[in-house]
Amino acid sequence: MHKCLDLAPLLLTLTCLFCCFSMISSSSQASSDGFLQCVTEANVSVLEQGEGLFNKQLNKYIRNPKFLANTTGRPLYVVMPANAPHVQAAVRCGRDNKMPIRVRSGGHDYEGLSYRSVDAGGFAMLDMSELRTIVVDNQTSTAWVESGATLGELYHAISEASNLLGFPAGVCTTVGVGGHFSGGGFGTLMRKHGLAVDNIIDAELVVANGTLLNKTTMGDDVFWAIRGGGGGSFGVVLKWQVRLVTVPETVSVFKVSVHNRHGAAVNAVTKWQKVAPAMPGELYIRALVQNDAAVFRAVFLGTCDALLPMMTSKSDGIPWLNLRHSDCKEMTWIESMAYVNNSTVKGLRKRTASDFDSIHGFKATTDYVRHPIRREVWTKIFDKQLAQPMAQVVLVPYGGRMSNVSEDATPFPHRAGVLYSLQLYNYWPVESGDGGAMQTRWVRDMYAFMAPYVSSESKPRGAYFNCRDLDLGTNWGPKYFKGNYERLTKAKAAIDPHNYFSNEQSIPLPK
Ligand code: FDA
Repeated sequence: MHKCLDLAPLLLTLTCLFCCFSMISSSSQASSDGFLQCVTEANVSVLEQGEGLFNKQLNKYIRNPKFLANTTGRPLYVVMPANAPHVQAAVRCGRDNKMPIRVRSGGHDYEGLSYRSVDAGGFAMLDMSELRTIVVDNQTSTAWVESGATLGELYHAISEASNLLGFPAGVCTTVGVGGHFSGGGFGTLMRKHGLAVDNIIDAELVVANGTLLNKTTMGDDVFWAIRGGGGGSFGVVLKWQVRLVTVPETVSVFKVSVHNRHGAAVNAVTKWQKVAPAMPGELYIRALVQNDAAVFRAVFLGTCDALLPMMTSKSDGIPWLNLRHSDCKEMTWIESMAYVNNSTVKGLRKRTASDFDSIHGFKATTDYVRHPIRREVWTKIFDKQLAQPMAQVVLVPYGGRMSNVSEDATPFPHRAGVLYSLQLYNYWPVESGDGGAMQTRWVRDMYAFMAPYVSSESKPRGAYFNCRDLDLGTNWGPKYFKGNYERLTKAKAAIDPHNYFSNEQSIPLPK
């Protein structure tokens, strides 16, 4: 996309897109009417483009505000199911009337593909936000959670049932369970307990003919595929059954910032790469490079008394962080989830975006690092970051349990050998006018700059599906899923042979 600098091809593309759009909107008219009639007869709530409440409901869960722009390819309908038969009816109506459906749970898709179309085709959006029942069974340490629930709602419900149970999933609590569980799901418990997908034990899936399947009836390959093979490809996951994990009564947290005076932050990050992924699974220390500083934020499953000697050990600790007892805070696991979100325990249930997130668009991408990056390269990364006040480089340590799950156990393949994931972000106020062109270019330039230093042993270069990036080009499948991609296409053929569930980066049928 960023190579479209030559005006002539750009004009040609726009003309073609316009042709396509006119064709699709006129040819989809008949099926549109049929779809609307069908869902209305099934008593499913539906809002039509142009209706008063349509924009309000559509915009409510647009989590990358750059897609609030008028140029965004919007759905023709927002369909709001309140129960399983509604979802089944909506899918049947869609398929019978040739109306494509996109599913939105929490709306955090980085490229907005749950609610927008790049290809300019007409479609209906299934808004799962009313389907968010959570039932925790602390006898069996399991829970059923509907896809429209947020991670914060799930964590909160678990903590109400027991303060000794938790769930290993993402940090941002407004993220939807539906998309998150479909693509992996990493967070502060990943080094001890793996990803969300490593802890899913059953699911209910509505497939293209409207049938509702569970783990047994969908079969092993499809059950494998929906746990990490990406949302929007196989059907609509109505709900998930998860295995909860044990958390100690007391966990500890700290946050230490190192400014880059005399290269101190560069030194700290260079050393962090070697030690953080080798620490015991109970300890998660994330590093964030921003504003010429490195910020280390940690969650430890244990007390400060147990953490301090680990940190200060000269042989395998992080003594150069100079962690003092007063830097360490003890709390419950649920309080630690609030802490990493700068929120309160009650605030975890809030479904609205933070003030910052609701007015800043962003561009992001991911990489996997298998060998520590040299100090001089980090100096350059810091310099490049400094040129962009809102840019961030986020480093999430792997190792621990992540290394003990085989690459093909789930579609998420980035396991043993990965030291950490590296995420590049840049933000801009959406009101600023240029649509974040400069910030987007920065992410793309950084991605090119990082090429020699990332995923060096694994070709192609790796990427995380849940940080979806349309800039990855046509080879996105093996980048996200490595050797699992082919098996995903076979699962797709088995469950959705007519490719009803599709988007710009959905799993295709096998070649
Ligand atoms: P959304 O509703 O946009 O769906 C994403 C994709 O899944 C779409 O293709 C959609 O069609 C499909 N889908 C959604 N619901 C479905 C359903 N019920 N059945 C089938 N398909 C469905 N990740 C992470 O691992 N750890 C983290 O800490 C974070 N933190 C984070 C913070 C912020 C601010 C953002 C924007 C994102 C993250 N993520 C993350 C990434 C996040 O996991 C990813 O964007 C998820 O896909 C979001 O799921 P939602 O349901 O919110 O998205």
